[in-house]
Amino acid sequence: MENRVEELQREIDNYAITCTDELEAFRLRFMVRKGSIAELFGELKDAPAESRPRYGQLLNQLKQSADRKYDSARKQLSALSTGEKQRHNDLTLPGRKLYQGSEHPVQKVLGDMKQIFRAMGFTIATGPEIELDSYNFDMLNFPKNHPARDMQDTFFITRKEGEDALLLRTHTSPVQIRVMLDDKPPIRVICPGKVYRNEAISARSYCVFHQLEGLYIDTNVSFADLKATIFSFAKQMFGSSVELRFRPSFFPFTEPSAEVDVTCYLCGGSGCKVCKQSGWLEILGCGMVHPNVLKNCSIDPEKYSGFAFGMGVDRTALLRYKIDDIRLLFENDVRMLEQFMQ
Ligand code: DAH
Repeated sequence: MENRVEELQREIDNYAITCTDELEAFRLRFMVRKGSIAELFGELKDAPAESRPRYGQLLNQLKQSADRKYDSARKQLSALSTGEKQRHNDLTLPGRKLYQGSEHPVQKVLGDMKQIFRAMGFTIATGPEIELDSYNFDMLNFPKNHPARDMQDTFFITRKEGEDALLLRTHTSPVQIRVMLDDKPPIRVICPGKVYRNEAISARSYCVFHQLEGLYIDTNVSFADLKATIFSFAKQMFGSSVELRFRPSFFPFTEPSAEVDVTCYLCGGSGCKVCKQSGWLEILGCGMVHPNVLKNCSIDPEKYSGFAFGMGVDRTALLRYKIDDIRLLFENDVRMLEQFMQ
């Protein structure tokens, strides 16, 4: 008995059911009243009484496995055949509309920025949006409790006395730190990405926006190199006729620091609503990397120097595409986005 059960089990397992005829043949072979499993059930009464319960159990298992195989093969075949029918029968239905995606205006602007810097030999580095307080502030030479930290209203995630807090990065500058800790000079990277600030939301400012950071470290890097890089970038990005001005500024991680304006590319510098009649638009902050920042990353400031810059991306997208509310950039409303189809 046991051998025959085993044999039948093997046969069931190996039985190929690829069409309805084979399904029917399987049913006739194993499942009907005169099938081979039923035949064995019939012989049960002749088995020795003490073996009967065990044989019965074996036979039940065999029957269940045949049922399972039959059911699953039937389901598969019927799914195939409805699919088949649909494919054949629905030829006259109108085609389904395919929705074409579009590139987000911020990504278009970022793409142009990346291309310009890539051509100058910068590579792209990225870092996490959830950042350590020490990378976002301390290592960038923000002293503890220094008012400079308040320039960037921060979303903290965890904040415990005596521990490095977790926060949403307020700028892309911490990626500088990550790059300098990982690589040794020469370093030439741009770091694009999202940053977060806990600011009042309005048409002009939002709690999340995009920045592009730049970092160049090597021997003998000077402020003149910084100026040349920014000049070249600005002319390619905003038009060859724009003029630039560097205004002295302050950032803890650069010394000296500057903010850079270009002549308003909407009015050509004569004064309009967007540039508030000044003729100038601010595009970025920059400066020579502070020796403390280099030291924090084990780079010798006696041997190496470098410049860094950081610019906003969203404002350029707003100006370029004449969008009057920054919130539209983050709402993912298809009616807005589909205007940017290629
Ligand atoms: N991280 C600054 C900010 O978000 C921007 C900035 C200024 C970045 C000067 C720099 C820099 O790398 O050198 O306000």
